[in-house]
Amino acid sequence: MSNVNFQNPLKITALISLASLLFLALSCAAQPGPQKLASFKPGELWPDNHGVHINAHGGGLLLHNGIYYWFGEDRAGGTAGNTADGVHAYSSTDLYNWKDEGIVFRPVDDPASEITKGCVMERPKVVYNAKTRKFVLWFHLELKDQAYRAARAAVAVSDQPTGPYTYVGSFRVNKGIWPVNITDEDKTPKPTNGLSRLQAASVGAFLRRDYETGQMSRDMTIFVDDDGKAYLVTSSEENATIAIAQLSDDYQGFSGKWARALVGDSNEGPAVFKHGGKYYLISSGTTGWRPNPARSAVADSIFGPWTRLGNPCRGTPEQNAITFESQSTYVLPVPGKPDAFIFMADRWRPQDAIDGRYIWLPIEWEDGKPIIKWHDEWKLSDFDHQTPPPTGKGA
Ligand code: GAL
Repeated sequence: MSNVNFQNPLKITALISLASLLFLALSCAAQPGPQKLASFKPGELWPDNHGVHINAHGGGLLLHNGIYYWFGEDRAGGTAGNTADGVHAYSSTDLYNWKDEGIVFRPVDDPASEITKGCVMERPKVVYNAKTRKFVLWFHLELKDQAYRAARAAVAVSDQPTGPYTYVGSFRVNKGIWPVNITDEDKTPKPTNGLSRLQAASVGAFLRRDYETGQMSRDMTIFVDDDGKAYLVTSSEENATIAIAQLSDDYQGFSGKWARALVGDSNEGPAVFKHGGKYYLISSGTTGWRPNPARSAVADSIFGPWTRLGNPCRGTPEQNAITFESQSTYVLPVPGKPDAFIFMADRWRPQDAIDGRYIWLPIEWEDGKPIIKWHDEWKLSDFDHQTPPPTGKGA
């Protein structure tokens, strides 16, 4: 028999509240939450944990303590959305389902600041520095109302991956320091009248011009090598040349050691990865938001020399000419799968920047070269069936 005393109004109220809570909990559990994703669908809308399309363009990934963090440019709608809103972070444990962690770094209201509202913040990349235990955010900074002339790499730091990040400062690359692969020829001033941008870069014109003030840095990535040394890999010399600059031990500046790569090739969207002791670079040409054919290169040392491997795309001629309608931003080594890498790229929508799409595709291998094919839908487990395996040791 029930021991509830129906005469006691307090007990009755408590009972009713308990019942309503139970009802609420049950009905919430019955609501369909955002659908759990179990595959990649390149180019489609990619809902986060709130069902909202992920807003992290030109991004990069960090794996820390078993959690992936995706950092990218937060973009607004319309053409106005192409300027910076800040750096947006997401977290995930499976790479398919992403939790919104909010904007972790933003432009400020102070007109005297380098990062005052109206500045451009692009291609954010976060790395963890084990010595300082800081998360270090690097990004491409352009100053307000100066178009893309400032060409700086900027740094902010945080004690947590999801911020907030504190601004450290911005830099041109290695002022007053020649690259390790400089030749006497490069140091010698030459007439540049009538030369194209790429020809001028090839005779060292911008390298010498910017020696005192530091080299330009636009589209960029950060690559951390097995020995813990990190490198800024960036479009320099009026985008004509890639500069590869070793970072200081705290990852917040430069060590002074740097090299020029692919001089006069005009690369953007650099993405670097290492496999089998070799360094690979996938990049794009320089056509703004419009996609162009990707390029790839390989080197035995991060400082080069880099050997061109051509367009890694293996689709129709139309797809190859526009990299499946995308521009490279990052290559992610998949943990636990030593031969697996994900090519990450942006399908920009400059007319409505917030609608930009993400093209994530598996890197496949052909004669020892990384290649990219289109897949409407794919899963991480597809890497287990790669043939032939990239090590070339037989299935
Ligand atoms: C692209 C570059 C983007 C952005 C854009 C602006 O070439 O890769 O990061 O800078 O130009 O037009």
